[in-house]
Amino acid sequence: MSFDLVFFGGTGDLTWRKLMPSLFQAWRHGKLPAEGRILAVARDDRDDDSYRNWLHERLQAADSAKRPTEDEYRQFAALIHYLRMDLSQPADYQRLKAWLETRRTDNTVIYLATSPHLFPTICGQLGACGLNHDGIRVVLEKPLGHDLASAQQINQAVRAVFTERQALRIDHYLGKPSVQNLMALRFGNVLFEPLWRRESIANIQITLAESLGVGTRGDFYDRTGALRDMIQNHALQLLTMIAMEPPSSADADAIRDEKLKVLRSLKPFDGASVARDVVRGQYRGGTVNGQLAKGYLDEDKVPADSRTETFVALRCEVQNWRWAGVPFYLRTGKRMADRHADIVVNFRPTPHPIFPGAHNANKLVIKLQPDDGLELHLLAAKGSVSSAGAGAMPEILSPVSLDLDFDKAFPTDRVGAYERMLLDALAGRLNLFVRSDEQEQAWRWVEPILDNWAHDSSTVRGYTAGTWGPPAASALVARDGFAWPEEA
Ligand code: BG6
Repeated sequence: MSFDLVFFGGTGDLTWRKLMPSLFQAWRHGKLPAEGRILAVARDDRDDDSYRNWLHERLQAADSAKRPTEDEYRQFAALIHYLRMDLSQPADYQRLKAWLETRRTDNTVIYLATSPHLFPTICGQLGACGLNHDGIRVVLEKPLGHDLASAQQINQAVRAVFTERQALRIDHYLGKPSVQNLMALRFGNVLFEPLWRRESIANIQITLAESLGVGTRGDFYDRTGALRDMIQNHALQLLTMIAMEPPSSADADAIRDEKLKVLRSLKPFDGASVARDVVRGQYRGGTVNGQLAKGYLDEDKVPADSRTETFVALRCEVQNWRWAGVPFYLRTGKRMADRHADIVVNFRPTPHPIFPGAHNANKLVIKLQPDDGLELHLLAAKGSVSSAGAGAMPEILSPVSLDLDFDKAFPTDRVGAYERMLLDALAGRLNLFVRSDEQEQAWRWVEPILDNWAHDSSTVRGYTAGTWGPPAASALVARDGFAWPEEA
């Protein structure tokens, strides 16, 4: 299969930090279809060679296992080309078209790694010069809009040119191996499904914690905040995968229909529930992994009086027969104690305790990063005898866990999130891409939070860099009698 992969935003951060390194790994693993061309598009005045050299320097920053050798880079770089374009100029799209038409290709994927406000212009121009035929797909990077209305506007402009199946909205969390395994765990095994409901599950906690701050992206981040950056997309997508009903098949739309139903079942927020169930925070100076870290307000390109949240914790409910009454807690933050993402499914206690002092410890931890794997926490008899009186059960139970490390289980087959998403885009596999109705529904759900925050300046809580967020986030969970994993 031959392909052409075009990156708009070819000199941007995303392209050199994530997309090109992932493509290189795909090439190194022999997964990139042969007969491929990769075209970086940007405004800078460069040619193929100077772009290849520029990229080479950047790929040297990767950790040693992922860095190309000279020989590897020489071969990989032969696939890479550069085209200078002004994205507002129709004539430049004609040059792109001419470049693409220099040969016949099975698949053309145009990846829009630019600021989303350019998507309508780019799509309009692509359509105007006929670069929207069946053989073309576009990949749209987040953030797709900053609220429902702007997301709808972008979607409308995209839909005017491309069909839904040609427009691939990327959420790279769906490409993470553990998220794939979540589908396998739930729908490839019979073990958990009977327990996967309100009768057996007490609560579910999704944590997406980062130890990094906003780095050089202060201006973007300040306009965005953690709710838009991580909750509206990544955290909600994980929630849909956990809560969805079994789809009728593995077909993309069968899966996306079920995910959409979950989003539609989320209990809507109002002023009272935003105040009660959503905590926002902003990091202050502190120490992260032994290094001093400045506070958010001292970061580059962040206004000194910013009220943008770098942390969110919230409690929500999925209102359907499976989940009614089960709290789902989502939290994310920058400059937290650790880089750590997982989903913890806490099961209910045994209905009738017969062991002295044993409190239920059943939980399933789906680990996304830094390692990916599964831990099933159980109680087991240690073999020692309790000092409880006559008639009491003598066993003392202790928590133990069954650990599955996917890196050890499948040492050679691991594929990173962006690598997986890029290969899926080239193959036209849509399962992991977000449909526009899902994305709009997610905006619809977060919008009351944004609106309430816009009118209430009193509730941005400071937290020290290197901690797990403001104490109010612990209180949110403690109120229901639960605790976050690090406090349990
Ligand atoms: C991006 C956010 O979508 O995800 C970033 O814009 C965040 O702010 C990143 O750092 C986290 O992704 P990962 O895969 O490193 O957890």
